Amino acid sequence: MDITKIVSNMQLTPDSSAPLYLQLANNFASRILESSIPSGTKLPPERELARLLGVSRTTTLNAYRLLEERDLITTRRGSGTYVNDLSQSQSAYTMPWAQLFTPQYKSPLSSLLRTLVATPTANNIISLAAGMPDPALYPLSLLESALTTKTPPLDPADMGYIPTEGYFPLRRALATWQTNQGIRTAPDNILIVSGSQQGLYLTIKAFVEPRDYVIVESPTYLGAIQILEAAGARTLCLPNTKELDLAVLEDYLVRYRPKLFYTIPTFQNPTGRVMSLQNRQDLIRLAARHRLVIIEDDPYGQLYYGQQPPPSLKYLDNYGGVIYLGSFSKILAPGLRTGWVTAAPSVINHLAQEKQYIDLHSNNLSQRILHVCLEDNALSDHLTMVRTEYKKRRNAMVSAARRYCSNQLTFTTPEGGFYLWCNVTTPVSACPPASTGLAGRPIL
Ligand SMILES: Cc1ncc(COP(=O)(O)O)c(C=O)c1O
Repeated sequence: MDITKIVSNMQLTPDSSAPLYLQLANNFASRILESSIPSGTKLPPERELARLLGVSRTTTLNAYRLLEERDLITTRRGSGTYVNDLSQSQSAYTMPWAQLFTPQYKSPLSSLLRTLVATPTANNIISLAAGMPDPALYPLSLLESALTTKTPPLDPADMGYIPTEGYFPLRRALATWQTNQGIRTAPDNILIVSGSQQGLYLTIKAFVEPRDYVIVESPTYLGAIQILEAAGARTLCLPNTKELDLAVLEDYLVRYRPKLFYTIPTFQNPTGRVMSLQNRQDLIRLAARHRLVIIEDDPYGQLYYGQQPPPSLKYLDNYGGVIYLGSFSKILAPGLRTGWVTAAPSVINHLAQEKQYIDLHSNNLSQRILHVCLEDNALSDHLTMVRTEYKKRRNAMVSAARRYCSNQLTFTTPEGGFYLWCNVTTPVSACPPASTGLAGRPIL
């Protein structure tokens, strides 16, 4: 490598607003970083460099100083100027990110949901790891036409910032949709969020401080556990019984003064359980007496495969304490990342303030598409189709479980949603058999 030739080819622009020494330093830096001037190369002395480029010695001196500051070269007195070994100089200055982060709650569960969501499904494998809608049922042409043919052409205003509470036509359409289901709702009662996961995060952030008590069903949605753990909440678990045990709930209310109760009353994740109407009414009566905040998470309520489930807690809410979380993820497509919160306007205002710190508002295009789907009744048509399709799959799953696992499993056929909760009746091993070299250990 002929350094003199490389240097002679360097282009400097005297009329540029960037000073010559900076241009020269940047020129060297990019070549050093891309290794076209390799580590260990001896660079021309400043005087020689100035002569080659037709610039002053101050320019070359300043350029070399800057490169030294950036740790790209070293001048050894009496020997000359050399390009540094970048692998060493860079590792010496690697950012110590782990030491700089603020404390973050980490448990064995921390990254589990992220892994589940990110794991692509192989062609011939149906993943049962998480409750996901089947991608083959995403209404792609409906979503495409909602954006292209069914709405006026995009206007610059459609792509600007919008109020944090969400795209008003979508809030209005959702208010109508819910009112038609008997939940009297105005647009002011609705906050559009980036998935009900965000709604859950915002609500927990709004009410829960470290060491506060929160009641949950056991088992419950992993994403909720993660948020509660990160918030430093202490969870009080309601046992997995056929009906919600309101005696235990009341005991918790009296003894611990919990901040809220998080529940999935319809096609619960992961048990598939549906709270009966009587149980819901009793819960609301109890909650009203204790002014208990209830978060009703309802991503699956529309996915029923027989009779419609009992009305939501929000429908029965006569004291205004239920905060309802809805989502388009399971009924349309999770990639829309759109859900909503229905609550009293003061709660919506508070959550919107919090949301503003995170993302200003949710994605305009998704909201526009969803508005069309609701206005057009296309969502109802799609729901009719997926209910039929998922019912077939539920039946296939149940008959396969009966046929192949009836000796080991007991379960109740779920009336909707994505979950078949099984009790294992005989000890089974979760590990490979001993012949593989890994001793099988029973998990029960
Ligand atoms: C009970 C429950 N709540 C919330 C979510 C998250 O939904 P979204 O995609 O709307 O954030 C899920 C996803 O599996 C869920 O099962």
